[in-house]
Amino acid sequence: MAPEQTPKAGQSQQDKKAWGGVFTEATDKRVELFTESISYDKRLYHHDIVGSIAHARMLADVGLLTAEEFVSIERELLDIEKQIEAGNFEYTTAKEDIHMHIESELTRRLGDIGKKLHTARSRNDQVSTDMRLWCRDAIDRLDTLLAGLQRAFVGRCDGDFDVVMPGYTHTQRAQPVLAPHYWLAYVEKFQRDRQRLADCRHRVNTLSLGAAACAGTSLPIDRQKSAEYLGFESIGRNSLDISSDRDFVIELAFDLAQIALHLSGWAEEWILWSSCEFGFLKLPQGFCTGSSIMPQKVNPDVLELIRGKTARVVGNLQTLLVLTRGLILAYNRDLQEDKEPLFDSFDTVSAALELAAGLVAQTKLNRSVIAERLDRGWLDATSLMEYLIRRQVPQRTAHGIVGRLVRLAMDRDCPLAAIPLEEMKTFCGEIDADVFEILGAANAVRAMKSYGSTAPDQVRAQIEYWKEQLQK
Ligand code: ARG
Repeated sequence: MAPEQTPKAGQSQQDKKAWGGVFTEATDKRVELFTESISYDKRLYHHDIVGSIAHARMLADVGLLTAEEFVSIERELLDIEKQIEAGNFEYTTAKEDIHMHIESELTRRLGDIGKKLHTARSRNDQVSTDMRLWCRDAIDRLDTLLAGLQRAFVGRCDGDFDVVMPGYTHTQRAQPVLAPHYWLAYVEKFQRDRQRLADCRHRVNTLSLGAAACAGTSLPIDRQKSAEYLGFESIGRNSLDISSDRDFVIELAFDLAQIALHLSGWAEEWILWSSCEFGFLKLPQGFCTGSSIMPQKVNPDVLELIRGKTARVVGNLQTLLVLTRGLILAYNRDLQEDKEPLFDSFDTVSAALELAAGLVAQTKLNRSVIAERLDRGWLDATSLMEYLIRRQVPQRTAHGIVGRLVRLAMDRDCPLAAIPLEEMKTFCGEIDADVFEILGAANAVRAMKSYGSTAPDQVRAQIEYWKEQLQK
C-alpha cells in the first residue's frame, strides 16, 4: 500500500476521503449523514459525466492530459454511466456527493489516470456546471410540456367554437365570452411562462468550469473549448461570482412557481365549473377519484392536487431566496441546499403539466347546462350600454340608464330582452327595435369589435395564429 493511501487512525479504507490529506481525525458518522448530498444529487450523474468528459477533453487539448489518457477517461466515464443506469452502482454517504462517487470509481478503474481528472477543477465549479446542464435540460423539458398543454387547449377550440359562456369578474357574471376565448387565455399565460424559461435559459447557459474553487487556476486551461464542448453560449467572467452564483436556480424556481400559479387558477376554475352548482364541465373519470364513504362521489382530486401542490412549489422558491440571503463570496456549503427545492419544484410542475394536458383534452362541456342559464346575470348589460353610446348618449348617462333597466329586470326576475320595447323607450328615447340585435348573450358576443376581444372573428384569428405557432 502506497504511503498516501494509508488510512488515518479511526478511518476504514473505505472511509478515506478525497480531501483527507490534512486530516488526522476520522469524520464523525453523524457529520457524514448531515453533510451528504448523494441521496439527492445522484440524479445529476448524467450531467456530471458529460461535464467531466468535456473537461477532460479540454485538458487533453492543452496538454494537461495525453490523448490516450483522455480516451481512457472518456471510455470509463461512459461505462460508469451505463453501470449507474443499470442500477449496479453502489452509493455510500462516506463519499458525500455524486462528484466524489464518479471520480472515485474512475480512479478505482484507472488508478493515476483517474486521479488526473480533477486537474484545474474544484467541486465548486463542477457542481455549478452540473446544475447548469441539468437546468438547461429541465427548461427544454418544461417547454415541451407547456407546448403540449397549449396544444390541448387549442385542440378544443374548433369543437367548442360556438359555445357562449359567462365571463366572470369577482366570481360574478360579467360579460359573455366564447369558450375558446377562455381556452386561449390560458394559452397566453403558458406562452409567457415559455418566454420566461427561454430568457432564463440564456443565464443558465453559461460556463462555470475554470472558475475552480473561487480564484481560477494557474494551469493553462482553455475555457473557450470547455464552453464549446458543452454547448454553453457564454463564459462566466468572474471566478468569485461563478463560484457563488445561484441566481439561475432561483430564477428557474420562480418560473416554476409562476407556472404552478397559472395551473392553480385554472384548476380552481375547473373545480368550480365541474361542481353540481355550476355544472359546466364533465371531467373524465380517469382523472377523478371516489369517496370511501359516499358512494355517489366523483371528486376532482387531480385538479385539487394541482392547486394544492402549488404550495410546495411556492415554498421551494421561498426556501431558495432565504438560502442565499447574506451569503458572502464565494462558494459556501449552504449552496448544496439548492438542489432539493429545485428538483421538487421541477418534478411537481412537470407532473402537473402532463396531467393538465390530459384533463384539458378529455373534459366535456355540458353545453345544455351552460346555454340554459346564459340569460341569467344580465351578461348583456354592457352591450346595451355601448349600444346607447353608439347613439351619442354619454357613457355615464348610458351606464345609469342601463343600471335602472337592470334593476327593473331584477325586480321582474327576467332578462333585459324580456322588457317590452315601449317600456325601454321610457328609460331612453334612443332605444329602437334594433336593440334586440345586441341583447342576449350570443348577440352581445357577436357585437364585439375590438382587437383581442371575444368577437368571433377575433377569436377565430387567434385560433389560427396559435395553430400555426404551435406547429413549430
Ligand atoms: N456537494 C457539494 C454541493 O452540492 C459539492 C460542492 C462541495 N464543495 C466543497 N467545497 N465542499 O454543493
